[in-house]
Amino acid sequence: MALPGKVHIVEVGPRDGLQNEKQMIPAAVKVELVDRLTAAGFPNIEVTSFVSPKWVPQMADGAEVMGRIARKPGITYSVLVPNMKGFEGALAAKADEIVVFAAASEAFSRKNINCSIAESIERFRPVCEAARAHGLRIRGAISTALGCPYQGEVEPAAVGYVARLMKELGVQHIGVADTIGTGTPRATQAAMEAALAHYAIGDISGHFHDTYGQALANIYACLQMGVASFDTSVAGLGGCPYAKGATGNVATEDVLYLLRGLGIDTGIDFEQVVAIGQWISGILGRKAFARAGNALAARSAPAAAAAA
Ligand code: HMG
Ligand code: MG
Repeated sequence: MALPGKVHIVEVGPRDGLQNEKQMIPAAVKVELVDRLTAAGFPNIEVTSFVSPKWVPQMADGAEVMGRIARKPGITYSVLVPNMKGFEGALAAKADEIVVFAAASEAFSRKNINCSIAESIERFRPVCEAARAHGLRIRGAISTALGCPYQGEVEPAAVGYVARLMKELGVQHIGVADTIGTGTPRATQAAMEAALAHYAIGDISGHFHDTYGQALANIYACLQMGVASFDTSVAGLGGCPYAKGATGNVATEDVLYLLRGLGIDTGIDFEQVVAIGQWISGILGRKAFARAGNALAARSAPAAAAAA
């Protein structure tokens, strides 16, 4: 099968990336990050979460961040929502899209959102109804689709089960998420197939944490199936506070490098993303987890120094 000619990237760095940071990051930095990502041409940016601040303190300033970002028409600004309280926050903040998140493993569901899978779906029912009534787009995420930190293996059938329930709720787009990065290409394709039983290929995306270094291979395996939407995180920021040891999402820089090499268009300015990755990593006081980003930054550093 021919690879897609165009790929849709959802930049999740401000949300999935920063939610796991121990040091509290000032809202001004979060706002600057989103504004720079907007300028780089991302069509969709996951800005923050409206979750309990007791559970994820780093996201407690979601309303402030949403209120201060400079929005560009045509770009979708998304927020995570676990319940009606979160939805009210999302609505007040004028989010374009909400992301409801369930798990393919019962154990992770309990740890992450303190309820069973079935209970989480019931919680999302009024959320989805309200989102539809207010004209907000609804995306869903299926965590632990390729393995669970508490339960171990997760069968594709469990992914299919949650995808079916999400479809029944009216969730328009589904993300198959490898929360702990243990998935490999064949397993990824099997999980995608299970979701594809309920969603069209254009309504599915991949969300790969890169803990075991498999994310790019998994993305390539998805491209071979025709999947053309991926969540990525600038500088490879990220992780879930309730999945210990899980590192960040696949770095946006590495994915853009791969796609550019394959001649696949994203509409995103690669050089700007490399600069953003270096900038935010500097603020966090560490090297970016982006192989292509670091390589390109190192190559351009002497030229920049000579020009100065
Ligand atoms: P709970 O403790 O069972 O809920 O948590 P509760 O209803 O008893 O509420 C507890 C307190 O939180 C109350 O405050 C509520 O008002 C408040 P108190 O009365 O004690 O002062 N509260 C809220 N505050 C603000 N916004 C809200 C909200 N809801 C309740 N929306 C709950 C249940 C779902 C709220 C909690 O477990 C939670 O917030 N979990 C979120 C965990 C999270 O954000 N995880 C990371 C995101 S998911 C992820 O990263 C995976 C993903 O990237 C895909 C992948 O990689 O797998 C998407
Ligand atoms: Mg994630």
